[in-house]
Amino acid sequence: MKTVATNISEEMSEAIQRQDASALVNSYQDQGEFLSLDSFLSQGVIDDLMEEVEGVRPLLNRNYIPKHKKGGSVSYFIVKESSPALTALYKNRGFIEWLSQLAGERLLLCPEDDPHACALYFYTEVGDHIGYHYDTSYYKGARYTVLIGLLDNSSSRLECRLHTKDPSKETKELSLDTKPGSFIFFNGDKLHHAVTPLGENEERIVLTLQYVTNPEMGRFNRWFSNMKDAVGYFGLSALFRRT
Ligand SMILES: [Fe+2]
Repeated sequence: MKTVATNISEEMSEAIQRQDASALVNSYQDQGEFLSLDSFLSQGVIDDLMEEVEGVRPLLNRNYIPKHKKGGSVSYFIVKESSPALTALYKNRGFIEWLSQLAGERLLLCPEDDPHACALYFYTEVGDHIGYHYDTSYYKGARYTVLIGLLDNSSSRLECRLHTKDPSKETKELSLDTKPGSFIFFNGDKLHHAVTPLGENEERIVLTLQYVTNPEMGRFNRWFSNMKDAVGYFGLSALFRRT
């Protein structure tokens, strides 16, 4: 019988083979280090991942920062203990090589004590959202985000502003849904983005993966990043697990 990791590895290599890598590299660069694909993973893979997601749903941490964000998160600390397929996807070598090719940088896993490394975001209550922000890197190197749509019965949109830090280009606005199997990849310091509020009886779940070019972090940035995660995402228990 195949292991979970073998299964994910085969599925990921098929998903990657369906893509035209050189066209995607151009598209990623043209869009200021941003790329989105409507259908990257098959529904079969998403179904397998969703089984694990339902298993950790009771452990989600609800967070609320007035006027900025409201939602639920499950940290990498829980994912790596309970969700072998999600963890295998995050660490899949072929996937990391492909992402590195897209980014034009050698990407590495985040350190094991980063709760964002492979995490789940749940938008399950009316008004769940996040305001405009960058996925700022507190690492010594750049930080890249992958979003994979897992479930989306919602009117929420991922609003993106491309080229905000490139004075030679006009800012371009995109409004995307994140249907199951969709894929979004960007340099966290380059993409200004937000998620619009969830409506009544709606639900949206995304998987987020983080990769870095240098996993080292200075002491002040470590402290600041820990506080931000505790308040905004995963709660104090994640902070204690990390330290
Ligand atoms: Fe973000």
